[in-house]
Amino acid sequence: MTSLAIIGGTGLTQLKCLEIERKEVLLTPYGEPSAPITYGKLAGKEVAFLPRHGNGHTIPPHQVNYRANIWAIHKLGIERVIAIAAVGGITEQMSPKRIVFPNQIIDYTYGREQTYFDGHTKDVTHVDFTHPYCEELRQALLKGAQAASLDAVDGATYGATQGPRLETAAEIARLERDGCDIVGMTGMPEAALARELSLCYSTCAVVANWAAGKGADEISMDELEMSLKDGMDKVRTLLETVIPEIG
Ligand code: HPA
Repeated sequence: MTSLAIIGGTGLTQLKCLEIERKEVLLTPYGEPSAPITYGKLAGKEVAFLPRHGNGHTIPPHQVNYRANIWAIHKLGIERVIAIAAVGGITEQMSPKRIVFPNQIIDYTYGREQTYFDGHTKDVTHVDFTHPYCEELRQALLKGAQAASLDAVDGATYGATQGPRLETAAEIARLERDGCDIVGMTGMPEAALARELSLCYSTCAVVANWAAGKGADEISMDELEMSLKDGMDKVRTLLETVIPEIG
C-alpha cells in the first residue's frame, strides 16, 4: 500500500521521475481535490502524487481546496506527506534556488477553510501545533539532501501570506521583524489540516526569488521561473534519494 504522498507546488505540477501506474478521481465531504491522485513508483517505491494547483496549474493559492486535498490523502490511508512549495527568501541564507526545510510557521492568511473541526463535531477540538512539521520526516529530508549534496537549509520560519499578489516591501519587512525567513502562499492551512488528521507532514521549500525589497527593485517573473526550475530539479534529486529510505 502507498504510505507516502507528495503534494507538488508551483513548478512541480508533474513528477517526471514518477512511473505512473494509475489515476483516481476522489470525492470528499469537502468537495473535489485539486486533481485526480496519481499513483506510481518513484525510486522503486509506491507513492501518490497530487498537484496542489491542479494539473494545468490553474488554481491560485487562495482557492486551493486544502481540506479536500488533505482529506483525500488521509482517506487513502497514507500516513506521510512531503509538501513541495515555492517560496520567497527573506533572511540572508534563503537565497534563490536553495532548498529549505522549515520548522515553524506564522499564518497571515485569511478567509480560507482552515479546519475540519468547524462546529459539526460533537466536541470542540484543539490540536497541538507547537511544532507544525513532522520532525522525523524533516530529518529524513535533511539527511537525503546531505547525501545528495544539495546544500539545503535546516530550519526556517515560513510566513504564509494570502496572495495571489506578491507582498509589498513593507509587508516583507514586517514578516522579517516577526521572525519569518521565507514567505509563501500555500503553507497554511495545509499544514494545520494535516495535523488535524494526524498525518506526518513536512515541507520542502524551494526559494524562487528574493522576497519584495530584499533583492532587485522589482521581482522579475523570468528570474523567478528560472530559479524555480533549477530548484525543482534539486527536489527531484532529493525525492529519488530520500524515498528509498522512507517509502
Ligand atoms: N512571496 C510569496 N509567495 C511566493 C514568493 C514570494 O515572494 N515567491 C514564491 N512564492
